[in-house]
Amino acid sequence: MAPALVIGNGDLPEFEGRITIYVAVCVVIAAFGGLMFGYDIGISGGVTAMDDFLKMFFPAVYERKQHAHENNYCKYDNQYLQLFTSSLYLAALVASFVASKVCSKYGRKPTMQIASVFFLIGVALTAGGVNIEMVIIGRILLGCGVGFANQAVPLFLSELAPTKIRGALNISFQLFITIGILIANLVNYWASNIHPYGWRISLGLAGIPALVLSFGSFAICETPTSLIERNKVEKGRKILRKIRGVDNVEDEFDSIVHACEMARQVKQPFRKLMKPASRPPLVIAILLQVFQQFTGINAIMFYAPVLFQTVGFGNDAALLSSVITGAINVLSTFVSIYLVDKAGRKILLLEACVQMLLTQGIIGGILMKDLKATDSYLSHGEAVFVVTLVCLFVMGFAWSWGPLGWLIPSETFPLETRTAGFAFAVSSNMLFTFIIAQAFLSMLCHMQAGIFFFFAAWIVVMGLFTWFLLPETKGVPIDSMVEKVWKQHWFWSRFMGDNDDVKGV
Ligand code: BGC
Repeated sequence: MAPALVIGNGDLPEFEGRITIYVAVCVVIAAFGGLMFGYDIGISGGVTAMDDFLKMFFPAVYERKQHAHENNYCKYDNQYLQLFTSSLYLAALVASFVASKVCSKYGRKPTMQIASVFFLIGVALTAGGVNIEMVIIGRILLGCGVGFANQAVPLFLSELAPTKIRGALNISFQLFITIGILIANLVNYWASNIHPYGWRISLGLAGIPALVLSFGSFAICETPTSLIERNKVEKGRKILRKIRGVDNVEDEFDSIVHACEMARQVKQPFRKLMKPASRPPLVIAILLQVFQQFTGINAIMFYAPVLFQTVGFGNDAALLSSVITGAINVLSTFVSIYLVDKAGRKILLLEACVQMLLTQGIIGGILMKDLKATDSYLSHGEAVFVVTLVCLFVMGFAWSWGPLGWLIPSETFPLETRTAGFAFAVSSNMLFTFIIAQAFLSMLCHMQAGIFFFFAAWIVVMGLFTWFLLPETKGVPIDSMVEKVWKQHWFWSRFMGDNDDVKGV
């Protein structure tokens, strides 16, 4: 029989276990939560550009849009309409805190099930909308679904995964986000030619992943960590055996039990989160998400059709740009899945900073020099070059800040603050996605090509932060982060008093 505790790379313990089919099935079903999120990200922009949708719900916006004067940098911008899109993110922001409570008290699985119910009702109200109230309530419910799913899915995946492939399994969440974005873009392109109800098809098809998540969620298990934390110790041991596919799971089981004992002493996770010892994972969780949005990814993806048009693809620009950038986004995520547990998290983030800095900087330089607001076009060669740079940018993001913005916050908190801490990651993502979505078009109009330098400057900041302050978490068991990572770090260890007096907090 294999030894119970195998010493892995360095002095990190490796628990016994195989990658079972059952884990793979659970991962795919849970990742459908990511597909819902990606579909929502991808679908809104296209739907709010459909005339049939505007005429029905925003007739005044439709009228004004007909007479808007656009130029290369100032696209038609309506904050009211934008707010409609962003309402989902605001609802998700609030919902993630409620979801964190549900996640600790009732488990990861019920949190995902509640998410799927929100999604289903949200889809029915938006796709079947007959007045603006219905559609907006639908968007808010979809937002609640996103808040619940984004809270539970990454945690579920990180807790379910064997340590040595935790990164790869967790990234299936991001992979499904990117697939959702790609599908949404294709659906929008096709549905925009179906009058007058194409927008209903776009919004309604979100029901498919929602149904998969809701029915599929009955087939998946609860994580052993969540079961043991809620005193279902024997069930936790049984599930651990099932997902690891071996009988001897005692070492991993003991490490979870130990984490649960610590967690049980903490009565108020949010208050505990404000203590110095929680600062390292909290600061990192929030900043990774803020930085993720300040790479400018959503702005670039949004601006891509305009750039593709400039190359001369004409009416097909929107389809081509979304297919090309969307496919690159999906495919590059596999690079991350392959490398994250081999090369580690930091190297991916740092390499991508260099790649994204160069591409943003060069795009900014070319546009500043040659693309004026009006009566100005890039030469064909220049435009092809810019589009190539956009693709390289998306590629870099997709194997680094995209997936790792979700992975690292889900794996670095000790159990007692994991769900509360992760809620800050989810809500920071929602808040900054909202801010960028709301401000981007006005910023582009005022700063013109300078906006690319704005994002480039952020990339420098996040690169320095990663280099100096982000610890490597590859191969570290999820419940050993405090001992193996935070207490060993040159900077963050100063917050980790040896005497972790957590009682009653
Ligand atoms: C981000 C989204 C982004 C997507 C792109 C996600 O990780 O949170 O804001 O649109 O990646 O693939």
